Amino acid sequence: MTATGPSDFDLQIASLGVHADDSYAMVSDVAMPLHVSTTFHYDSDPTKLKRAKDRDSSVKEEKTTFIYSRFGNPVTERVEAVLSSILNGHAVVYSSGLTAFSGALTYYNPKRLSIGDGYHGCHGVARIFTRLSGLEKVPLLDDSVSAGDLVHVETPINPTGLCTDLAKAVEFAHSRGAKIMVDATFAPPPLQDPFEFGVDIVMHSATKYLGGHSDLLAGVLVTKDPHVRDALLQDRGLLGGAPGNFETWLLLRSLRTFKMRIETQAKNAGKIVAWLDSALKNNDIPILTKVYHASLQTEEFVTKQMNTGLFSPTFAIEVASPEIAKSLPSKLKLFHHATSLGGVESLIEWRAMSDPNVPEGLLRLSIGVEDAEDLIADLKAALLSLTV
Ligand SMILES: Cc1ncc(COP(=O)(O)O)c(C=O)c1O
Repeated sequence: MTATGPSDFDLQIASLGVHADDSYAMVSDVAMPLHVSTTFHYDSDPTKLKRAKDRDSSVKEEKTTFIYSRFGNPVTERVEAVLSSILNGHAVVYSSGLTAFSGALTYYNPKRLSIGDGYHGCHGVARIFTRLSGLEKVPLLDDSVSAGDLVHVETPINPTGLCTDLAKAVEFAHSRGAKIMVDATFAPPPLQDPFEFGVDIVMHSATKYLGGHSDLLAGVLVTKDPHVRDALLQDRGLLGGAPGNFETWLLLRSLRTFKMRIETQAKNAGKIVAWLDSALKNNDIPILTKVYHASLQTEEFVTKQMNTGLFSPTFAIEVASPEIAKSLPSKLKLFHHATSLGGVESLIEWRAMSDPNVPEGLLRLSIGVEDAEDLIADLKAALLSLTV
């Protein structure tokens, strides 16, 4: 087998998910062993020992000598090799999506954060930075944005799965000397690659599609610039933002099947949205009032940005009243009523349960890998069981 590494982009995503870390294997196990040690013994040859002050810990070596787990360990190194390959840059993994977001804010340390709607937790993190350093939060693509600021675009956006025009946002940010970050959690590659539009940094909550089994918390930042990667690693080592060994091990295990999961989930969602949209247009379901999904957007940029014909497996619907929205999850057999998204099991959430900023009749659906026709039958029965 050919050894592959983070700089080898010749293989396709499905193969990279399984093999991009092959050259990092330290033992002959086919499945990655779980390394639990927080500390690693120094070289037994005294002539090879370097004092801390003589080591340049700000530069990531291609093959790390492990010292202490907060700064790096064998599992994190392998998961970062796979994520770097799949996400098309230099990946740094964090203990959650929000830790990744705060890692980016810490590194860029902007005066202003230009941010639109989207995941409410990112706004919560921004409020902490406002408290600590006076960070000013301004609307997305606000006229005040200038050099040294950071523009943060979430696309497709939580909870509707609708797309924002990345080419336009990048042009806006760069023309003013600002940096631009994209939260691409709702649509990792192959659904979209924000680097094709020249963004500076990409973040994902790896808890969602990259993890995919609702059993781990992780986040990732991806940059094209190795110096930015080294600085992020340095900050992460000091702030303690790295995930634990078991979480990283679970994430690596999950990445082996990432491509088939995301494609199945996106295809399922496409079929379900098409059915819901036609039911809405034909007035087949009296309580259904709106369906949101990028596949229903008509702007030209949408299919340029998401050019595989597949869109986010997460989207939203609105029903006639908050009471109906509250009851619908209890009528479903194949959807758990729970927050989060991206797992192999379908979820539905009356979104008012966790997000105070959305219409009260809105439900968010995260589509899993079940059979699409079964999911449609389940939704149809539940939607028709409720009346206005
Ligand atoms: C779009 C988006 N970004 C970031 C996050 C935060 O990720 P985590 O829960 O892994 O911290 C979430 C969580 O739902 C999300 O939906």
